Amino acid sequence: MKKANMIVDKDWQISEIDKRIYGSFIEHLGRAVYTGIYQPDHPTADKNGFRQDVAQLVRDLQVPIIRYPGGNFVSNFYWEDSVGPVTERPKRLELAWRSLETNEVGLNEFTKWARSVDSDVMMAINLGTRGIEAACNLLEYCNHPSGTKYSDLRIAHGVKQPHNIKTWCLGNEMDGPWQTGHKTAQEYGRLAEETAKAMKQIDPTIELVSCGSSSAQMPTFPEWEANTLDCTYDFVDYISLHQYFGNRFEDTDNFLAQSMEMEHFIKTVIATCDYVQAKKRSKKVMKLSFDEWNVWFHSNEADDDIMKNHPWQKAPALLEDIYTFEDALLVGLMLITFIKHADRLKMACMAQLVNVIAPIMTQTDGSAWKQTIYYPYLHASKYGRGIALQSVLSSPKHDTMDFTDVTDIDSVVVYQEQQQEVTIFAVNRNLSEDIQLECDLRSFEGYHLIEHIVLEHPDLKAVNSAMIQQVAPKLSHESILEQGKLTTLLHKASWNVIRLGK
Ligand code: AHR
Repeated sequence: MKKANMIVDKDWQISEIDKRIYGSFIEHLGRAVYTGIYQPDHPTADKNGFRQDVAQLVRDLQVPIIRYPGGNFVSNFYWEDSVGPVTERPKRLELAWRSLETNEVGLNEFTKWARSVDSDVMMAINLGTRGIEAACNLLEYCNHPSGTKYSDLRIAHGVKQPHNIKTWCLGNEMDGPWQTGHKTAQEYGRLAEETAKAMKQIDPTIELVSCGSSSAQMPTFPEWEANTLDCTYDFVDYISLHQYFGNRFEDTDNFLAQSMEMEHFIKTVIATCDYVQAKKRSKKVMKLSFDEWNVWFHSNEADDDIMKNHPWQKAPALLEDIYTFEDALLVGLMLITFIKHADRLKMACMAQLVNVIAPIMTQTDGSAWKQTIYYPYLHASKYGRGIALQSVLSSPKHDTMDFTDVTDIDSVVVYQEQQQEVTIFAVNRNLSEDIQLECDLRSFEGYHLIEHIVLEHPDLKAVNSAMIQQVAPKLSHESILEQGKLTTLLHKASWNVIRLGK
């Protein structure tokens, strides 16, 4: 049997994990809002029209922050359309997804819903078709207490207390030619710089995210980061990263190695930020916000057809990827990668949360259900809070089409000091062999095994549905902790969460 070894010590600390790395995203896209979180005629809807079956699944995930309202959607969004009496709100052509936006759910309804599921809002502004003025008015509407045009308008709309939204994205994917109002790095850098300065005049307590590249494959990456940060460095707090993966060539070994590409992306962005920091002789260390990430490819063809041949529908079924078991493994690997970079990565948003490339799906005339990817996200969010530890792992390796030296096992360890708990997250991405992992945990004296949760399935392509949850976690009984040494069997193709307590 193949073996791997790991040494973990409570003093080898990477950083405290910012809980916001378990954030998510709701865009006015497809059925995320309408018939997703909001469906007044659903039997579980509350008096505001929000589905409580969905809200409960979101609460269970403990999502600390939700990005809103887009995405590509935001680059032609007129926020004023989404506030005030619902019957007076205009319907709009939504350019990013060629859909109809009715504005039945807007800013105030969404922030109220977010509070009800214990999440903060990460608000994105339109730097595509609009600019400084609209951004300032929106911020005044949201965060200024009262006594000015837009704060009083909010109060007139029945929202007395300011929303106090702390985190703001300066546009979305402005490097992408598909973006309405796409810009060059120079154009975006200057606009973002001036918008940031004005917004911080209104509310100096806010934190701002400058747009990074839409993916590591963009031809302008990483010059985009270097050039835009040259303008925005002193005025923003984060730079964004976005990345989606897919198993387009039916090569699962290669697919599961893509978290290495994600890691390389993170390291390159850090290096670019540090280059700008050095150039500017700045003391400020730029933080990272990986505010769109997931697997996304299953629905591509169907989406092209809807947008091209059936445009301007309200809530069309767009981006409804049905996730396989192997997708859940890559999601687990991506989460492990985030935790390893907890020192610089302070926010991340799984894109998205409901119906649109999402862990939660809804039937309009039925229930809400959990996709395969729901589970690694749930486990990381629940048990991945605390201090990320720098473990030393030695694992068998393999090569794939695009990657060399891919470790069979990838793992990260989180120490919850206060609760005196330790969680080991580990994926065995070897598709044919179980691996025995021996873990030296001697610095955790007096700890015992709480549980070993495993997500596995004989069919890599297994999916869940409203009827069947065939990919769901279960308990493994193949871990033993004796005298500070954990011996565990990590089954081929499996996601593992091993929890220890004192
Ligand atoms: O999450 C779906 C889309 O992916 C977002 O709207 C956009 O920002 C990205 O290209």
